[in-house]
Amino acid sequence: MSIIDAAFARKVLDSRGNPTVEVEIHTDNNAVGIAIAPSGASKGSHEVRDYPPKGIDESLKIFKEKVAPEIIGQDIYNQKYIDQILHTIDGSTNFANIGGNLAIATSISVAKAAANDIGLPLHRYLGGHVSIRMPVPVANVIGGGKHAINGTTIQEFLVISHAKKVSESVFMNADIHRQVGKKLKEKFPNMSIGVGDERAWVVPLNDEEALKILKSVIDDFRSRYDIDIYPGIDVAASSFFSNGKYVYKEKELEKDEQIEFLVNLVDEYEIKYLEDPLEENDFEGFSKLTRLVGSKTLVVGDDLFVTNPERLMKGIESDAANAILLKPNQIGTLTDFIKTTKLAKEAAYTTVVSHRSGESEDNALAEIAVGVGGEYIKTGAIGGERTSKLNQLIRIEEYMED
Ligand code: PGA
Ligand code: ZN
Repeated sequence: MSIIDAAFARKVLDSRGNPTVEVEIHTDNNAVGIAIAPSGASKGSHEVRDYPPKGIDESLKIFKEKVAPEIIGQDIYNQKYIDQILHTIDGSTNFANIGGNLAIATSISVAKAAANDIGLPLHRYLGGHVSIRMPVPVANVIGGGKHAINGTTIQEFLVISHAKKVSESVFMNADIHRQVGKKLKEKFPNMSIGVGDERAWVVPLNDEEALKILKSVIDDFRSRYDIDIYPGIDVAASSFFSNGKYVYKEKELEKDEQIEFLVNLVDEYEIKYLEDPLEENDFEGFSKLTRLVGSKTLVVGDDLFVTNPERLMKGIESDAANAILLKPNQIGTLTDFIKTTKLAKEAAYTTVVSHRSGESEDNALAEIAVGVGGEYIKTGAIGGERTSKLNQLIRIEEYMED
């Protein structure tokens, strides 16, 4: 047993330059855990609230006045109990009163302090003695939606490289990102091509044109390396669903047309990863689409499930998808996150542990993805706040080989 003897919360910067919460926990055994909450820009409406009505400052005040006094004196290894304290102080079902970002930063900093206290890396502390596998990295190459102005309508065009080692996949994804950038600069010689929130290229192309360019670079890499490499997309369909229609830059689609459009994209471009193809409440549409393409591609629920065990259960019962995106701050505590992950695994759903568009140098996501045995980790291709996780995966892999 080690006791929490100090706890602080402060405002730090995230990768968009916005304030976010950092929590720091100390134990009487001189262990420390520090965690920073990420933040979303294309949030699901069923996620926990990130901050209380008066914002981040209110979260910090609540931490000082209510959370710190309650958790100081607790056993650092009692993660479940500490997470329950957060729920009790909050008193709502969605962290509306203390803020999910305060909750997740507290929860993860407690786990980090416990891991340090016992002298284990976080992935081992979370994973116990289960055999450890490395997750396959999913990287954002071209983007738009709510992550960039004047980009594609579909939020993310992704690449997934299945090299033998995670380090090779990480370098390959970054290389593909670079080659796509080169192609785009050739195509638009008079434009300066920038990147969006997740460092994916932003270009004034329609979705199919973007996918064509990504696919051509992937085909080139495939012809040179003996590695399975596939494109994926995060449609983030809720972000352009309006008055019952999917409103693209150049067209508007009814639900059935949206399904048809995506079925064709999956076939034509060998898409093996299809996230949020339909708006976040359309379980029935998801089931239909999963029936049509579920044997060819992962159908991943992000805004649909929001890492929430009840929403996932509803999806499992209706065969709405075959994979789930898992974002710790969508649900607010590590205990709840692990509960949803276990439920997904029991239902043979593929698990994808994911970053947010607003991130930080905190690399806990990599440790968590390995610790819970996530099959995939979606955490970008480049950029310090993304490479912090990718580089940690490389380290973990090397430690494991030793
Ligand atoms: P976010 O969304 O901007 O809310 O983090 C990313 C995603 O849709 O996967
Ligand atoms: Zn998403």
